[in-house]
Amino acid sequence: MNILGIESSCDETGVALVSAAAEGVPQLRAQALHSQVDMHQAYGGVVPELASRDHIRRVLPLTRQVLDAAACRLQDIDLVAYTRGPGLAGALLVGAGVAVALAEALQRPTLGVHHLEGHLLSPFLSADPPAFPFVALLVSGGHTQLMRVDGVGRYALLGETIDDAAGEAFDKSAKLLGLGYPGGPALSALARAGDPGAFDLPRPLLHKPNLDFSFAGLKTAVAVRLAKLGEPSDAQRADMAASVQQAIVDVLCAKSLRALKDTGLKRLVVAGGVGANVSLRARLDAEARRIGARVHYPEPALCTDNGAMIALAAAMRWQAGLAATQAAGAFDVRPRWDLAAVS
Ligand code: KG4
Ligand code: ZN
Repeated sequence: MNILGIESSCDETGVALVSAAAEGVPQLRAQALHSQVDMHQAYGGVVPELASRDHIRRVLPLTRQVLDAAACRLQDIDLVAYTRGPGLAGALLVGAGVAVALAEALQRPTLGVHHLEGHLLSPFLSADPPAFPFVALLVSGGHTQLMRVDGVGRYALLGETIDDAAGEAFDKSAKLLGLGYPGGPALSALARAGDPGAFDLPRPLLHKPNLDFSFAGLKTAVAVRLAKLGEPSDAQRADMAASVQQAIVDVLCAKSLRALKDTGLKRLVVAGGVGANVSLRARLDAEARRIGARVHYPEPALCTDNGAMIALAAAMRWQAGLAATQAAGAFDVRPRWDLAAVS
């Protein structure tokens, strides 16, 4: 079974080819990615219309590149998967439109995949894949959720952010520090030179006995502290970056450990762009080891948005008998879509 996956929900065009047998971990044959980060940087964030237009420009050349790299002919594709949501409506429509047109021409079925399902299954493509059941911490630019995952399509929400996502907290704090978009990687790099204890920033809901998060107060606190400093020195900016990162990591770690404790599970999967954060990984690894738990991550290149996770999720759905493929020509996208509603 050869599955082509197309991701176009936000500012990355990703295409990949995955091959799957009836059982066993699907194999990634090839993938290609174009990031629009440079294009959106001038505006300080993603401009939806520009994103859609760039997806249109990139998706077919990337598809050709993937098929060539995998030495796979168009007619050898058995299923075309695409990100159905959540994400930017116009951007999603590009991937969905191309996937459906391709499938129609090849007389193959399509499968619309939930973007977060792609993220949370992505560690199955790593050298150290997890086993079900596990707790998943999904931390991206738009989402911060803890899920209990009992198998493919068996997702229960344990807790989520009541306001900003963790990635948003990184991005907004980075913006206040004058770092570019997206700010997460830049803030994390600056934090290396700073003292994480320099500024006492809020950690909302840290001690609340639930699994919810709140990050909106953090950017306000950062704005207030920076305003007080007037013209912060390089050292103060590094201290602020380190303190912000520490506050976010503290909360993500504490709640993830609480989720393991509450569910009695010993495996944690971390997925989504913020999962690339080195400080978060170090802390989670150390704290999990202390309670005899294991943490699984996607390969670093598969932490942020990509086509491989979409093809993989489609492959695992097909293996589980859950590939509700659509009739030729029919498609829709779901800009807002709850993962717990996916079965
Ligand atoms: O999963 P993703 O690529 O896209 C969404 O679905 O949102 O996540 C992007 C988010 C951005 O907020 C970005 O700043 C953050 O992930 N991010 C990081 C790091 N790399 C990406 N945040 C902190 N540290 C990083 N190393
Ligand atoms: Zn994502």
